[in-house]
Amino acid sequence: MAKARLVVIPDEIIGTINPNIYGHFAEHLGGCIYEGIWVGEDSPIPNRDGIRLDVVDALRRIRPPVIRWPGGCFADDYHWRDGIGPREDRPRTLNIWWDDVESNQFGTHEFVRFCRMIGAEPYICGNVGSGSPRELRDWVEYCNYPSGTTLSDERAANGDRQPFDVRYWGVGNENWGCGGAFTPEEYAGAYRRFATYLRPLQRDPMTLIACGPLANDRDYTRRFLEQIVRTCPPQHGLPFQGYAAHYYCGTAGTATEYTHDQWYHLLAKSLEMEPLVVQQRATLDSYDPQRQVGLIVDEWGAWHPAQAGSNPRHLYQQNTQRDALVAALTLDIFNRHADKVIMTNIAQTINVLQAMVLTDGARMLTTPTYHVYAMYAAHQGGQAVRALVEGETIDWVAEDGDDGAAHRGALPQVAGSASVRDGALTVSLVNTHAEEPLDLVLALLGADGTIATRTTLASDDIHAHNTFDEPTRVAPHVEHPDLAANGATVTLPPASVTTLTIAL
Ligand code: AHR
Repeated sequence: MAKARLVVIPDEIIGTINPNIYGHFAEHLGGCIYEGIWVGEDSPIPNRDGIRLDVVDALRRIRPPVIRWPGGCFADDYHWRDGIGPREDRPRTLNIWWDDVESNQFGTHEFVRFCRMIGAEPYICGNVGSGSPRELRDWVEYCNYPSGTTLSDERAANGDRQPFDVRYWGVGNENWGCGGAFTPEEYAGAYRRFATYLRPLQRDPMTLIACGPLANDRDYTRRFLEQIVRTCPPQHGLPFQGYAAHYYCGTAGTATEYTHDQWYHLLAKSLEMEPLVVQQRATLDSYDPQRQVGLIVDEWGAWHPAQAGSNPRHLYQQNTQRDALVAALTLDIFNRHADKVIMTNIAQTINVLQAMVLTDGARMLTTPTYHVYAMYAAHQGGQAVRALVEGETIDWVAEDGDDGAAHRGALPQVAGSASVRDGALTVSLVNTHAEEPLDLVLALLGADGTIATRTTLASDDIHAHNTFDEPTRVAPHVEHPDLAANGATVTLPPASVTTLTIAL
């Protein structure tokens, strides 16, 4: 059996893991909002104020800290006034990106209510591409100003006297593409113009988020930042607190059908998140030496071919044990960069792309990716500490990646991260090998502890996934070993995710 060693140094603190690293994203796309969240008050599906309760209960259990809305591409063609006021009077508008008619039944009030129900902070992405600075500053005032202006009083008249206190505001989405097709320099100009009217409304704590590149496009980031520092008064630092990239690792094979090499290929692509984080943060830091701006990845995940028989523009896909490993490997990267990454939002919460939850009418299931979020929730707010893995690599060759070319590489067999909170060390570990278990020897440097809980997400089939007929085919298994951690050998099953809770 392959062997590996994990050395954890609890005293070597990287930084606090911002709970928002475990954030989510919900767009008006396919079945994410309508059916996934909103079923309407008259629906036979149990709901409160139109929001389905089974989904709320499931999401609450993974402690979602923040949720981004209303898009995605949808955001830069969304006009928030369409989604307020009596629902029967709201316009029906065309969702130009995702092949739908938008009923606007789910708008700002419904979104904030949903966030409150699941215990998450709202993150609203504003419209830069087809909107105006006035429209976005009015939305902020409508949401956040306490009372006494026409807009804040309108909010109260629409049912919410208390301000929403929306803290996170995105100034556009993918503005190099569906958010207006700007060059980095043009977007810097648009950002500056929009921010001029948002910053006076910025009461602590309000976080303005500038839109960054697709994947690790350092040239985009450099050109954008160059233009920002050239044209914005330098005395206040950069005029945003977050800078958000997107990275989809794509697919290899389909959502549920893939060879072993395609398994490795997709996992290898998910690890491309690490150079993205390292290089984007280095570029940011060179323009922001005080490190006041946090790195955000507000869309990421696997993007498989749409499920046969579904509308390809609704981006519905199944979610297997392979997706669970994509999530775990990626979250471990974010934990390891907790000193710079302040938020990430996997795409998307329900029925779209790498979802937590799938629904079918009144039925609902949680996916393998959901279980990773549940297992990793203990990292939220912990101190990320140094965890060094020594292990082998797996050579793979895939002839048919999503671009049709042959790919090869050497994938680490084991990866992970560690954090300390409330006297407990949480260690997360991934065995990427499709067939072989791994014996991992644990060493805590300068500390002793007892492995109190071990949670394992594994399956006898790398293609395993949950279906409405078999919704718990992939589910975590919990044990309480009560074993001294130093020197312990932990056997990681093939193709698995494991978390250990070690009482220090
Ligand atoms: O998540 C689906 C789409 O992917 C989003 O709308 C867009 O921002 C990205 O290209």
